[in-house]
Amino acid sequence: MYRTHTCGELRIEQINQTVTLSGWVQKARDLGGMTFVDLRDRYGITQFVFNMETNAELCDKARKLGREFVVAITGKVTERQSKNNKIPTGNIEIIADKLEILSKSAIPPFTIEDDTDGGDELRMKYRYLDLRRSCVRENLVLRHKLGIEVRNYLDQLNFIETETPVLIKSTPEGARDFIVPSRMNPGQFYALPQSPQVFKQLLMISGFDRYYQIVKCFRDEDLRADRQPEFTQIDCEMAFVEQEDILDTFEGLTRHLFQKLRNVIFDYNFPRLEYADAMELYGSDKPDIRFEMKFVDLSVVAKGNGFKVFDEAEYIGAICAEGCANYTRKQLDKLTDFVRKPQIGAKGLVYVKYNEDGSFKSSVDKFYDAAQLQKWADACNAKPGDLILVLVGDKSATLTQLGELRLEMGSQLGLRDKNVFKPLWVVNFPLLEWDEDSQRFHAMHHPFTSPKQEDFHLLETDPGAVRANAYDLVINGVEVGGGSIRIHDTNLQAEMFKHLGFTEEEAKEQFGFLMNAFQFGAPPHGGIAFGFDRLVSMFAGIDSIRDVIAFPKNNSGRDVMIDSPSTIAEEQMIELGLDYRKK
Ligand code: AMO
Repeated sequence: MYRTHTCGELRIEQINQTVTLSGWVQKARDLGGMTFVDLRDRYGITQFVFNMETNAELCDKARKLGREFVVAITGKVTERQSKNNKIPTGNIEIIADKLEILSKSAIPPFTIEDDTDGGDELRMKYRYLDLRRSCVRENLVLRHKLGIEVRNYLDQLNFIETETPVLIKSTPEGARDFIVPSRMNPGQFYALPQSPQVFKQLLMISGFDRYYQIVKCFRDEDLRADRQPEFTQIDCEMAFVEQEDILDTFEGLTRHLFQKLRNVIFDYNFPRLEYADAMELYGSDKPDIRFEMKFVDLSVVAKGNGFKVFDEAEYIGAICAEGCANYTRKQLDKLTDFVRKPQIGAKGLVYVKYNEDGSFKSSVDKFYDAAQLQKWADACNAKPGDLILVLVGDKSATLTQLGELRLEMGSQLGLRDKNVFKPLWVVNFPLLEWDEDSQRFHAMHHPFTSPKQEDFHLLETDPGAVRANAYDLVINGVEVGGGSIRIHDTNLQAEMFKHLGFTEEEAKEQFGFLMNAFQFGAPPHGGIAFGFDRLVSMFAGIDSIRDVIAFPKNNSGRDVMIDSPSTIAEEQMIELGLDYRKK
């Protein structure tokens, strides 16, 4: 028998029992007369004692154990002299009388401890060792639990988990597809799904009524901390629903998950914010509302004083950083550098210190006197001791830049506590978005999203102003989920394709199957998809979703452990009809 107990299990109650444990050697400490071995498995760590006096041969064997050797040790549980209250098994130790080496280990490339000496790349290359570290494993256990709770909740609401295919035709979610060549159909390709969007809509037409799936999605896009090329969604769809039903149902799911996994109870309805207001007040469609610091438009009070930059600006936006009037020159220069970074792209930063004594000191003192700056302060609701930060320029770019500055100030002021959760529905997204490169409108969400009935008449005259029945769930500035009420009418869908610049033939070729299906009785339907990895990382209090995925890709989309992507053999290329060298 390899083990009678796990390494996290034994307590004072088991004293005098003879037990066998198996696991990995965390460390072996040779103290001359005694050797201590810490044995680790997924459940914890247990200390073993080998005594030179009572069993010299065994003690000698224990001394020679290397880190990460896999062993089975038998012995008697005893109470420890010096207890270790840092671990649950710290009151006992096991006096060993048998030691079997099950597997030797090479010296690991980094220490298998929470506080490891291994860098990112090295740990990715040896991810299977990284996963032995309890802090990494705990994230995956949390992921597992989240999956179970999702299934429990949705099952109880009659949702049916249905698998949809992975080898499909391109889905129009806006990113690039990953493509798979078809051997049996030379010159033709499958695409990996960016989401199961069209399949879940087809399932509604099939009468499934309530569908969900915890499902892998694939998007060939630039990677960031919250993006992986393959990621997991909790994908959901419901028939015979309006927007309100979807928001209700999935607010319920979100509450359930927070309660079960974080013991967080929201005793209020999630606030809702119009997309347009989110942009105007926070410069983002995913505002972090753990703190206020809303934007104030200073155009009215700041224009007309002969300061050209302001007078000619389309937008003058300010935020008020409470209690920051004492910021030093150096701190302000740093903030200026921050907004000037190419990723942010502002030209400069104007500041106004509203000093404790009621005086003002600003970077535009040449153009504005105290009475004028007082008006700014009043507009911003600033009090003595506060700092007003102002950006000017083209409206949409300036809003985004001010949004970044707001987040930076929120972080600097410690207002973004990871243990505080502030959910928010952002609703009424625009239906269409202008794309400069292709000089045409694109669906902001996807082409199956329905326009708001009351905006419908604007489709011809002012397409950019049409709002959609689309919503995002945002928590702490992270877009956790997004969805919409779909079009379920063939004619309207055809019209949407027209507005998106598809010819009738193109629409038929790409979405003919869906348009056909609509002819056979499509119920009103809508849905949402949550970013599963993003939810787990939020619950785990981690910034990067990489840490909650067992085998993630690095920032260049590579799996450095299995060394993928990689070239393939020439024969394989030929077989797939991809041998470009033959041409
Ligand atoms: P959307 O494209 O908004 O909607 O995706 C839904 C959610 O998936 C997460 N997400 C990602 N997570 C990690 N890495 C990525 N590359 C990535 N891309 C998206 C986000 C996002 O909110 N079919 C629609 C849903 C619907 O309309 O029902 C869709 O996929 O958390």
